[in-house]
Amino acid sequence: MAREESLVPPRLSSDDGSSVRNEEEDYALLTGERTDHEDKRRAWPSWREIGAFSWAVIATILVIVLAVMYPHNSAEPHNHHSSNTTWGPGGKPTGKRNMIFMVSDGMGPTSLSLTRSFRQYTDDLPFDDILVLDKHYIGTSRTRSSSSLVTDSAAGATAFSCGRKSYNSAISVLPDHSPCGTVLEAASLAGYKTGLVVTTRLTDATPACFAAHANLRNYEDLIAAQEVGEHPLGRVVDLLLGGGRCHFLPNSQDGSCRGDDHDLLKVASQNGFGYIDDRAGFDSLKGGDNATLPLLGLFASGDIPYEIDRRSQNDTYPSLEEMTRTALKAMSKATEDSEQGFFIMIEGSRIDHAGHGNDPAAQVHEVLAYDKAFAAALEFLENDSTPGVLVSTSDHETGGLAAARQLHKSYPEYLWLPGVLDKANHSGEYLAARLKEYLSGPGKDAKDSAKQSWVRKTLKDGLGIDDATDDEVDALLHPDPQIATEHVFTDMISRRAQVGWTTHGHSAVDVNIYASSTKGAWPLVGNNENTDVGDFLADYLDLDVDNVTKLLQDTKSGILQSYDWMGDRLGLNFHTEGLDTYHGDFRKRSPDDCGCGAAH
Ligand SMILES: *[C@@H]1O[C@H](CO)[C@@H](O)[C@H](O)[C@H]1NC(C)=O
Ligand SMILES: *[C@@H]1O[C@H](CO)[C@@H](O)[C@H](O)[C@H]1NC(C)=O
Ligand SMILES: *[C@@H]1O[C@H](CO)[C@@H](O)[C@H](O)[C@H]1NC(C)=O
Ligand SMILES: *[C@@H]1O[C@H](CO)[C@@H](O)[C@H](O)[C@H]1NC(C)=O
Ligand SMILES: *[C@@H]1O[C@H](CO)[C@@H](O)[C@H](O)[C@H]1NC(C)=O
Ligand SMILES: *[C@@H]1O[C@H](CO)[C@@H](O)[C@H](O)[C@H]1NC(C)=O
Ligand SMILES: [Zn+2]
Ligand SMILES: [Zn+2]
Repeated sequence: MAREESLVPPRLSSDDGSSVRNEEEDYALLTGERTDHEDKRRAWPSWREIGAFSWAVIATILVIVLAVMYPHNSAEPHNHHSSNTTWGPGGKPTGKRNMIFMVSDGMGPTSLSLTRSFRQYTDDLPFDDILVLDKHYIGTSRTRSSSSLVTDSAAGATAFSCGRKSYNSAISVLPDHSPCGTVLEAASLAGYKTGLVVTTRLTDATPACFAAHANLRNYEDLIAAQEVGEHPLGRVVDLLLGGGRCHFLPNSQDGSCRGDDHDLLKVASQNGFGYIDDRAGFDSLKGGDNATLPLLGLFASGDIPYEIDRRSQNDTYPSLEEMTRTALKAMSKATEDSEQGFFIMIEGSRIDHAGHGNDPAAQVHEVLAYDKAFAAALEFLENDSTPGVLVSTSDHETGGLAAARQLHKSYPEYLWLPGVLDKANHSGEYLAARLKEYLSGPGKDAKDSAKQSWVRKTLKDGLGIDDATDDEVDALLHPDPQIATEHVFTDMISRRAQVGWTTHGHSAVDVNIYASSTKGAWPLVGNNENTDVGDFLADYLDLDVDNVTKLLQDTKSGILQSYDWMGDRLGLNFHTEGLDTYHGDFRKRSPDDCGCGAAH
């Protein structure tokens, strides 16, 4: 409890309280008087006191002048420790330092409640046992984009990378389709080492926004090329770990999903990257002790499996925690002898996917895996000789998750049932893939009764469900073409656990911000705009992303003759700013509504 309190200063009340206290303390120091207001009034008539009063007036003016010159000092009421990570005079941090930025994609406040209770249930822990994240809560972030109150990950990550609002689907480009400089690019230009670690494709929106610029998030082939150095500023990333291999292989090769035969592994190699693509390669890094940068690690063709499924494939895929530990060690070693530290973005990418899939069992395991990665990053900071800060937040919430659900017309029970989630051994995504394999293989010509028993056994083994109705089994064997099979599985477990969802997309609720301490991350205490998070990342490393924006926008320099390198601009009708209005969609989806590009 004591620790929580020290990490979560009640901002508003103590801001007021401490500024009053500080003025009184200053007055007392300068005048030698006690700070009691009664004393001041009684002391008024004597000449000695008038002299002191004049001095007090001068001193007060001095204090005001100083406060104006150093505005950030007064906003840092709790930081009385001096060290070289303390933001110094003028609000600028000094000294060699590292920034670890973690993104829990799609993790809203309810994900935490759900996961905390799930763990208490499964591990038989008391009601006050909390996640590591819970102990480091410092504030919240408001998430809207320039084009909607409900952001996608692209606009969300652009707010973090550039500190600017943009439209859903924008990969570090502004609403006018010009590129904006990112904190990672600025860090790289300033001599920091940079890294991206994710569990989805490295070409997906969140990592893309730090190291690439594209008018549409779907331009993943183009994003991949920029990430390995076909970028106006050259190679800007030193370490890339995650999935998405298929976008780096030429389409002449098995396992490629590129639209062209551009061989990005060759480009990466020409730009100095070492390359690993499997568990053995990852293990050869020896936890980072044997890693040489730049390094590209692509451990899955697309996404790395959900943690709930990866657990039983640990010999094929590293976990987010393992990648985090290895990456931090590698970055730390690579900057051992340099003046600058590193910037790294680590994403728990698939919390979002579990939200899209409305899969509560997959979600709690994703959040637990993220919590472990967060703890690993904290441990790194505590041990490392270079100071640094760890900040973690989400780009948005996904799924409209509710830790309660009304199942019937009659008044609902007050509960949800973590025990139901505990029985699940796999995600809906995994089970849907197994069902598909079965129906196109051994089950192809099987009798209906055989298919039904296969489904019932799969439900029992995979989700711990042994009371499926005939309708549910039928919905899996003869799916409604508008409903993904995966969602039939996840609806079955959600209803039984009495966990609710309002959407397969994102929602507009504010998301939480966590940090290693409020000392380094003091500007983010309280309720923030997501762009404030982006500003913080650059400010902490004393970087100027506007300088990078100028470089990227400089079409006269000869580097860039136009913005064609960011892909098609999508035409004048593409909506980049302003909110949509009511079209009567509650009745019928408007035919021209394509959900344009905001796939995640
Ligand atoms: C931080 O401060 C300590 C103590 O003043 C000093 O020994 C150390 O060299 C400083 N580190 C950096 C990176 O400036
Ligand atoms: C260290 O990495 C190199 C490649 O950079 C590899 O050849 C070597 O086998 C690795 N060492 C160990 C002990 O795995
Ligand atoms: C997963 O595999 C790695 C490397 O072989 C090993 O160090 C780790 O302990 C394994 N994790 C689990 C949970 O078995
Ligand atoms: C941090 O230090 C502790 C104690 O020396 C050690 O057990 C732990 O492995 C270290 N962790 C990291 C990430 O270096
Ligand atoms: C689910 O996984 C647990 C732990 O891995 C295992 O003990 C249990 O037998 C599995 N359940 C089923 C039905 O496969
Ligand atoms: C940004 O550019 C200006 C003008 O070129 C330069 O004076 C300034 O030092 C740059 N700032 C950073 C942080 O690089
Ligand atoms: Zn997202
Ligand atoms: Zn999403």
